[in-house]
Amino acid sequence: MSNLNSERVLDVRHYTDRLFSFKTTRDPSFRFVNGQFTMIGLEIDGRPLLRAYSIVSSNYEDNLEFFSIKVPDGPLTKHLQNIKVGDRILVGRKPVGTLVQDALLPGKNLYLCGTGTGLAPFISVVKDPEVYDRFDNIVLIHGTRFIAEQAYGDYVSKELPDDELIGELVRAKLKYYPTVTREPYVHNGRITELLDTGRIQAEFGLPPLDKANDRVMICGSPAFLKDMVDMLVARGFEEGAISGPGHFVIEKAFVEK
Ligand code: A2P
Repeated sequence: MSNLNSERVLDVRHYTDRLFSFKTTRDPSFRFVNGQFTMIGLEIDGRPLLRAYSIVSSNYEDNLEFFSIKVPDGPLTKHLQNIKVGDRILVGRKPVGTLVQDALLPGKNLYLCGTGTGLAPFISVVKDPEVYDRFDNIVLIHGTRFIAEQAYGDYVSKELPDDELIGELVRAKLKYYPTVTREPYVHNGRITELLDTGRIQAEFGLPPLDKANDRVMICGSPAFLKDMVDMLVARGFEEGAISGPGHFVIEKAFVEK
């Protein structure tokens, strides 16, 4: 299996009965751009069963990290949710994906918008020193139904600002906006509406969305992607790719039915 590395599980963390994350070793030859995903999985009945997962860790880190849903009868996640430290995970050697900084035109403010496990690629991005070179403000927005699904909240608000490598950049430029839709929280509401009405921008003293200065990366469910794209296109934003950078990029978060 030359297109797959076998990595050892180093740590597993369960957030809810639907969400968990885990860390693995990283083959030194495995290279990726922050924001990309790769195929990962397990060998089931002698054959690799793989799904696309965004890489949570940043490309300068020694280990890999992934953030996953658990689906009771999901072909992969019914097994994956039971992994333990020391188990082996298959990791595809060819990372890909559209949520990369080179697919965006230069700008002042970068909005990273994720729902559910759609947060994963943006944890990689906010750990990337380069993003702080490119933008004046990085606004990380995570939308979930419930508070317990706000994984990485403590990491972003408490650990990252103290990080040896990028803590200073984070303190100067990263703005974090966790929002919950189905119970009272520090912020409530859907990301689409909070951005469209300027509520999030007002919180940080930023102007309303404007394609002249704002760039947006989006990751979540198909319905969320569609509503975000409709809102941005109505404002004249254009989708970017590495072959033709634009104002926003999108990617579907992995949701196993
Ligand atoms: P809501 O609770 O109002 O449906 P899910 O777990 O279904 O992927 O949802 C994660 C978060 O994304 C929830 O807060 C949910 O809000 C929100 N969401 C779901 N669909 C959309 C959409 N089309 N536009 C904006 N936010 C959405």
